[in-house]
Amino acid sequence: MTGIAEVHRRSLDRPEEFWVAAAGAIDWEKRWDRVLDDSRPPFYRWFAGGRLNTCWNALDRHVAAGRGERVALIYDSPVTDTVASLTYRELRDRVARFAGMLSRLGVAHGDRVLIYMPMVPEAAVAMLACARIGAVHSVVFGGFAAHELATRIDDAKPKVIVSASCGVEVNRLVPYKPLLDAAIAEAAAKPLASVVLQRPMCRAELVPGQDRDWHELEAAAQPIDCVPVAATDPLYILYTSGTTGIPKGVVRDNGGYAVALHWSMKNIYGVASDEVFWTASDVGWVVGHSYIVYAPLIYGCTSVLYEGKPVGTPDAGAFWRVIEQHKVRVFFTAPTSFRAIKREDPNGALIRIRDLSQFRALFLAGERADPPTVAWAEQVLGVPVIDHWWQTETGWPIGANCLGIEKLPVRPGSCTRAVPGWDIRVLDPAAESDLRELPAGEIGSLAVKLPLPPGALPTLWQQDERFVQSYLSAYPGYYQTGDAGFIDADGYIQVMARTDDIINVAAHRLSTGEMEEVLAAHPDVAECAVMGVADALKGQVPLGLLVLKAGVTRPAAEIETEAVALVRDKIGPVASFKAALVVERLPKTRSGKILRGTMRAIADGEDYRTPATIDDPAILGEIAERLREAGYPTRG
Ligand code: COA
Ligand code: AMP
Repeated sequence: MTGIAEVHRRSLDRPEEFWVAAAGAIDWEKRWDRVLDDSRPPFYRWFAGGRLNTCWNALDRHVAAGRGERVALIYDSPVTDTVASLTYRELRDRVARFAGMLSRLGVAHGDRVLIYMPMVPEAAVAMLACARIGAVHSVVFGGFAAHELATRIDDAKPKVIVSASCGVEVNRLVPYKPLLDAAIAEAAAKPLASVVLQRPMCRAELVPGQDRDWHELEAAAQPIDCVPVAATDPLYILYTSGTTGIPKGVVRDNGGYAVALHWSMKNIYGVASDEVFWTASDVGWVVGHSYIVYAPLIYGCTSVLYEGKPVGTPDAGAFWRVIEQHKVRVFFTAPTSFRAIKREDPNGALIRIRDLSQFRALFLAGERADPPTVAWAEQVLGVPVIDHWWQTETGWPIGANCLGIEKLPVRPGSCTRAVPGWDIRVLDPAAESDLRELPAGEIGSLAVKLPLPPGALPTLWQQDERFVQSYLSAYPGYYQTGDAGFIDADGYIQVMARTDDIINVAAHRLSTGEMEEVLAAHPDVAECAVMGVADALKGQVPLGLLVLKAGVTRPAAEIETEAVALVRDKIGPVASFKAALVVERLPKTRSGKILRGTMRAIADGEDYRTPATIDDPAILGEIAERLREAGYPTRG
């Protein structure tokens, strides 16, 4: 068997040959003219000139090959007490009809469709239907507020929005329609129509002429065939947090993505195409796009679409029930889920009552996998626990233990080694103008040498310049991941922290800069700072410090409550913004930069050094005192 080092070397030495071999697993309507079009650096395109259809590759080809009766999707929803499944043929038929219905609504190749839906099979149907007709979908996570939805509508300018009457959280229903209506009212770009899936637990009032009932349209729709598109055409736009309130529209193409995802299923996850693969995430995140919908289906697996939580639906044994019931072989989730389970079932009693004999491996991503959580998971599950590192931008893992090639020893805190295709380097952040690679073991900026492999973002939606400026300009010739970390002498990667103002809250990626923009709009707030402080369950949670305008005499507690409500209203509950504190002053450098990192260290009870550039060191003492009063474990 060829080892991972050899495969990795081959992928970098002869990338075109490597990816052509992988592309053989995909059905092409026309093969590419150029494997890698590098005529316009720093923009690179894979499989230029090729034509294919991603939906064909995910559904129709399996039916055509006689695998139509195999289960494609298992919908498991403890929140609605439902378990249902769709075979490849059934899913293909539903997708073909929904594609017909989108087409009747005027959606064609290149048009955008925004999908704002809970975790129901129809979310996958809508995504695949867009792929079928060459439309570009943009899925927005259900936990975002109307304003977030409006910014995405204005950027993507969708012809149609697909939504549902409600989502179901553990203790409450979330009516989507009022959020959708508010977003459309706020947005300048108005869609032609909204298609609403009525769910029985909370029906929405539909506006004649604007809203369409999913079921009525579907019943009357005619199925349509796949439309071949260019390999380099966009399959979707997925918005992710940037450093400001304007999210970045990460673009994914069709050809390179299909090739990379198919390759990853066998080589990274070590799964076979007749097995059941489960990713407990949400279709609103990249993990959901890649490993609930596209990769398992393109590969021909059975994928589980789970509408529930790790705990509370109904208990901390929910995951083990699903794994047993559906014979899941490989499972993928975020470390935060395991922290939640461990808190409620520390001895794994709910695991022992299940037959998990067919379960083979657990993959974790979305945030740093803390070694105690990994050790606990390994101990209670008795299967390899694989931390792997990736981003919305990359679309599939950058660093992993590639189980399908060679299982390397797991080292706590490390996502193991660079995945084939990814040339990862650690660059000196202090030497941006004069590129310098750091020696093994030294912490620096994690960067990827260009070109990025297939599947990674080719650009940001209609913002080539922002793409270059955000990712490619700090280190010419490299993609800057925004993560800091090191690579040891054996090539093991440790991802330590973000280098920007992005925080990871329960594996959800959020921008503190955006939260500051929202807080700064409060009429009584003069200035503010938001940072991610340590949280035993969610990894990090945001904390906002507010300085009030001179002359404001209202009670601080009142303004703090309003600030919390404001972030929930503007960004959404997913921000988990529950703590705002009014302070007298914020510590700054002499040049006026707010010392967020020092305040975070104080809040987390870490030892901290007073920066030499601080303007007034006394302010740190004041902040420490205020945080101590509020219950933060400061040492001050
Ligand atoms: N629609 C509407 N609201 C949503 C939502 C959705 N799709 N998803 C989350 N929310 C809400 C929650 O109800 C909660 O609201 P609340 O403040 O009223 O309680 C808030 O957003 C925060 O949600 P969450 O961060 O999920 O916290 P939680 O306390 O409800 O649950 C965990 C904690 C750890 C169980 C949960 O975060 C979890 O399952 N995390 C795993 C995340 C994951 O898999 N990410 C994928 C990336 S790989
Ligand atoms: P997202 O784009 O939402 O997938 O978030 C990507 C970010 O999550 C990365 O840039 C990292 O900061 C973090 N992340 C994802 N996976 C890991 C991991 N395995 N270890 C450490 N951080 C991770």
